[in-house]
Amino acid sequence: MTTLGTPLSPHATKVMLLGSGELGKEVLIALQRLGVETIAVDRYDNAPGQQVAHHARTITMSDPAQLKSLIEAERPALVVPEIEAIATPMLEELEAAGTVRVVPTARAARLTMDREGIRRLAAETLGLPTSPYKFCDSLTELQAAIDGVGGPAIGYPCVVKPVMSSSGKGQSKIDGPADVQKAWDYAMAGGRVSHGRVIVEGFIDFDYEITQLTVRARGADGRIETHFCDPIGHVQVSGDYVESWQPHPMDPKALAASRHIAKTVTDNLGLGHDGQPGGLGLFGVELFVKGEQVWFSEVSPRPHDTGLVTLTTQVQSEFELHARAILGLPVNTKLKNPGASAVIYGGVDATGVVFDGVADALRVPNTDLRLFGKPESFVKRRMGVALAFDADVQVARSRAKEAAALVKPRVA
Ligand SMILES: Nc1ncnc2c1ncn2[C@@H]1O[C@H](COP(=O)(O)OP(=O)(O)OP(=O)(O)O)[C@@H](O)[C@H]1O
Ligand SMILES: [Mg+2]
Repeated sequence: MTTLGTPLSPHATKVMLLGSGELGKEVLIALQRLGVETIAVDRYDNAPGQQVAHHARTITMSDPAQLKSLIEAERPALVVPEIEAIATPMLEELEAAGTVRVVPTARAARLTMDREGIRRLAAETLGLPTSPYKFCDSLTELQAAIDGVGGPAIGYPCVVKPVMSSSGKGQSKIDGPADVQKAWDYAMAGGRVSHGRVIVEGFIDFDYEITQLTVRARGADGRIETHFCDPIGHVQVSGDYVESWQPHPMDPKALAASRHIAKTVTDNLGLGHDGQPGGLGLFGVELFVKGEQVWFSEVSPRPHDTGLVTLTTQVQSEFELHARAILGLPVNTKLKNPGASAVIYGGVDATGVVFDGVADALRVPNTDLRLFGKPESFVKRRMGVALAFDADVQVARSRAKEAAALVKPRVA
């Protein structure tokens, strides 16, 4: 039985979000609705999630000492990572010491914090199909990996990504020898940390890509069960999501293969430091599909940006599913109706922007909006999302895009 407390009382159920962007904000709102006391942590003040939480804390989450002292001071029942750049070895230490429970597990947070941990786990330990890949620490090693010096050739075209980066930062496609130097320099400029390690992957000529949202939640008998949401299709531009929809129609064999991959990887990430399958929560498993063939790309052990669409398509959004699962509560992954999401970019570099056209956007039938409340806008920063539902997913897609285009951020 799960007992929840009263917030701001001695018996509160306290949950700490490490990272409080637009995805964390929705998880926090879902937790608030269940009377959970929330602590929103980010690297800057007034992050979206901090605006809706009971408590806001600003620290450098990649600094183990700052992370430790905050967790020890707040003593949350659960720590929920929302971003990758966290001092995860410290989370493992605190979890092993019994100080805190990390969602889904501290081990999963460590393995997914860079591309190397999760790729080696998926391809080498679990034997899942992935693109061919190699890790390189210099331009010379990159060229050698592509050419196949001392091993199988990755060849052209291929994709280069910093080992630590997200949202397509520092990522580029190499079509031939002339692009190699440029891709290396771009990766060095776009990575999150200064040390220059990249992954080079063979380019997969997929028909489409999906996110398979997968939830590990407790069943009535206390055992952990795996639940699947309907597949989410999406379009990425320069490695960043611009549009998503649900459901994406799939060949039954490809769907079965996708779910097998998702179950295999989430089963493993659900294992704690004690080797027990205690990890709970929602995962976004990214897959490439061509005909009946499916490749594992990567996985977020938390809500996924392309899953914002579930705010309008599912009985319980991916954020509600995550909140429920981590608290040990039952979940419902049913689709309510088909729908789509389209990203609203900042378009300008400015602080405190204003948004024109909101009413026009909301006049597009069956649409909704989320404006995240980010204090600072950048041209390519995701500032909001438009949502649309319709029995016809193509209609929903065009309406979401229409609504998104009507919202115009500008300098105040
Ligand atoms: N090997 C590949 N072959 C073909 N396309 C690829 C490959 N790797 C990446 N891509 C394309 O680039 C997109 C982003 O890649 P990936 O998910 O690895 O980067 P990311 O920076 O982690 O992105 P995000 O944080 O938005 O998930 C993929 O969704 C896919 O569209
Ligand atoms: Mg991705």
